[in-house]
Amino acid sequence: MKFFIDTANLKDIQEAQDFGILDGVTTNPTLMAKEGISGDNHVKNHYLAICAIVDGDVSAEVIATDFEGMISEGQELAILNEKIVVKVPMTKDGIKAIKYFSKKGIKTNCTLVFSAGQALLAAKAGATYVSPFIGRLDDISVDGLGLINEIRIIYDNYGFTTQILAASIRNSTHILGCAKIGADVITSPLSAILSLLKHPLTESGLDQFLADHKRVADQNM
Ligand code: G3P
Repeated sequence: MKFFIDTANLKDIQEAQDFGILDGVTTNPTLMAKEGISGDNHVKNHYLAICAIVDGDVSAEVIATDFEGMISEGQELAILNEKIVVKVPMTKDGIKAIKYFSKKGIKTNCTLVFSAGQALLAAKAGATYVSPFIGRLDDISVDGLGLINEIRIIYDNYGFTTQILAASIRNSTHILGCAKIGADVITSPLSAILSLLKHPLTESGLDQFLADHKRVADQNM
């Protein structure tokens, strides 16, 4: 399973890259706004800065909502760097744009996916990635991981190569659930990835090892 980080924060991206487990980055307009990034050149330069850090795909979302606008914006993003994946919303025009980009060999990420039917359409259009939002479904008392499972079954039934990129991940339980189901990718805040490190027995075990080592080392001084 690939690990992507869901942020536009360069410090977090660098930390995840240095940690050694990073396979890619996803961004969205909210995450870019959080970093104060706006304006065509500023946005493009920020994507280039992300691409310079990470070895892997970097999702850059279009703002346009009409087919022509998505195509022109997506093409401008795609030529910035070969790592760029054009992120397109799950709408009728979005599906048409994904089909267009797919024929041109431009990688796409179909975002804002909340049902198996939407994921089926994204795969039919040739999306590179599909992004079902687990956390936002859980927020409305719908089983987010259940959706990942449904999509996995459907894609495996027909051999669709679209990668399931589980998004809106809030915690380590989501990450492990995705791993058990067989999601291809998870994208998550750095905090949820780092929380996989934690176990109280690891911490107490290490404390004990170090204390025992010190006790004998002190006796032998
Ligand atoms: O990038 C899309 C998705 O991961 C957003 O997550 O936490 O805003 O629901 P969240």
